[in-house]
Amino acid sequence: MRISTGVEELDKMLHGGLIPGRAYLVKGGPGSGKTTLTIHFLIEGAKKGEKVLYVSLEEPVDILKEDMKKLGFNIDVPNFVAIDATPVKQKRSIFEAEHFEEFAKDFKRLVDAIVNRLKGEKYTRIVIDPITMLRLTIRDELEYRRMFIGFLKEVARYDATLVLTSEFYNTDIEDYLVSGVIELREVEEGGKTLRGIKIVKFRGSAFDESLRPYKITDEGIKVYHKESIFRGSDE
Ligand SMILES: Nc1ncnc2c1ncn2[C@@H]1O[C@H](COP(=O)(O)OP(=O)(O)OP(=O)(O)O)[C@@H](O)[C@H]1O
Ligand SMILES: [Mg+2]
Repeated sequence: MRISTGVEELDKMLHGGLIPGRAYLVKGGPGSGKTTLTIHFLIEGAKKGEKVLYVSLEEPVDILKEDMKKLGFNIDVPNFVAIDATPVKQKRSIFEAEHFEEFAKDFKRLVDAIVNRLKGEKYTRIVIDPITMLRLTIRDELEYRRMFIGFLKEVARYDATLVLTSEFYNTDIEDYLVSGVIELREVEEGGKTLRGIKIVKFRGSAFDESLRPYKITDEGIKVYHKESIFRGSDE
């Protein structure tokens, strides 16, 4: 059984979609569409009546709502739970009397808060966007690795499919520990900058290993899974 990313052509590249109950990483530069891709994924679940959880660590949820509305995504529905964990002073938790800005600084507390949520209610899809800051909160690499593995194991107990986003640098630990990595790249071709999507790894499945063009449009992300990004090459 597979779980859809919400982007049909990306599902085709994944030979049917993601394997549920596992953790994935979406990597890309600023404005590459990481957030948009994760919203496709969550909305897909929400539309089916699943309960989904989005944890925002950098972009305030109000702004996200506005931007996603422009792409035709209404995340203002009861089974789409969006948690604002951005470092904004007055922000308060929508559950428990916690200051969410603390979470951005404290991986362990964020993990505890998410796990508490999972204990209370069943979520099928969880996104943490992005995890970049979390890496910076733990200096010791071994400690971070332990925390990260612990988090993945804990979430796995609840059968939720987890999608994390990050920028490119310094994600070697996460790359190894997650079940799949999808990259949103920029490619220079014939003097133009093109966007390309590449599945770097996908445990437990065959997949399209080519770099395929994608665009961000008024309707979100469009992947051209039959097209090649390099003219005259088969890649
Ligand atoms: N209708 C549209 N047509 C084309 N591009 C759009 C449209 N709407 C938004 N975009 C582009 O989508 C990008 C934003 O996507 P998104 O926020 O998902 O990226 P991101 O990788 O999460 O960025 P960040 O690193 O800032 O978090 C911006 O570059 C924006 O210009
Ligand atoms: Mg983003």
